[in-house]
Amino acid sequence: MHFSTSFISFALLASSQLVAGHGAIIKATGDQGGHGSAIGVDPSTPRDGTRRNPFQQDSTRFRNAAADQCGETLSGGTNDVETGTAQVLAQTGGTLPQISAGGQVMMTLHQVNADGAGPYTCMIDSTGTGTQWTPIQVTQNIDGNRRGNNRATSTMDLPLTAAIPASQTCTGTVAGESNICMVRCQNPARAGPFGGCVPVQMADGNGTAAAAPSAASLATTPTGAAAAPTLTDDEEEEEITRRPTGFIFSNGFRSRCSLLNIVSAAPGIMVLG
Ligand SMILES: *[C@@H]1O[C@H](CO)[C@@H](O)[C@H](O)[C@H]1NC(C)=O
Repeated sequence: MHFSTSFISFALLASSQLVAGHGAIIKATGDQGGHGSAIGVDPSTPRDGTRRNPFQQDSTRFRNAAADQCGETLSGGTNDVETGTAQVLAQTGGTLPQISAGGQVMMTLHQVNADGAGPYTCMIDSTGTGTQWTPIQVTQNIDGNRRGNNRATSTMDLPLTAAIPASQTCTGTVAGESNICMVRCQNPARAGPFGGCVPVQMADGNGTAAAAPSAASLATTPTGAAAAPTLTDDEEEEEITRRPTGFIFSNGFRSRCSLLNIVSAAPGIMVLG
């Protein structure tokens, strides 16, 4: 069984070379207004289909050279923070999502096909460069199984919200804008991770002048675990359909493991591609 599992993993890894991004953050706003998107997003991409071309072209995948930074897209290659942010600014008429310490960033995740589903994890880089990530809490997540798979929500626009820590600073200067942070969200798809990097701007300075967070401001941090993503009935359906004959498991055979929910919702757990 170990051999067959490894073999299947290898086969999926090999085939993933042919797989493009399956989820794109097409819109984002901050608690202080403004709007933007993930870098690499092309607003002219049609959103009513699932095929690689054209529907997956501007979705980010965290693989290859920039796997630990802002990933890559099929159409644009490596996502460059500077030029990507300049493009977002050009598309929005010069604004970015405006955030505050203790606030939030509200995103729209366009799920292209089945493995662009949740659960998503998010992180932030206070330097805006997309190189130093700190996990942040996802307060509104997207359903999916532990492989980021949920066929039922393919081609849908879904809300994804992350909390900005009360002690957050944003000291980046990117594309001529100051007080920039980069927010990165990604799913656990085996062919991914898929998701995107969203440049955001602290509305009221860089946050470094703020007093040490008081007990009161800490209390505004959302408490409790992030909304626990639910495992869907078609767990691993995608992979199952690709398994060679001889390794057939029925969905009913796989019992749900509640531990998975706990692990994926646990604060502080971050998986870099
Ligand atoms: C933050 O902004 C203040 C006020 O403009 C400035 O003096 C300080 O150097 C900035 N800090 C960083 C780390 O950019």
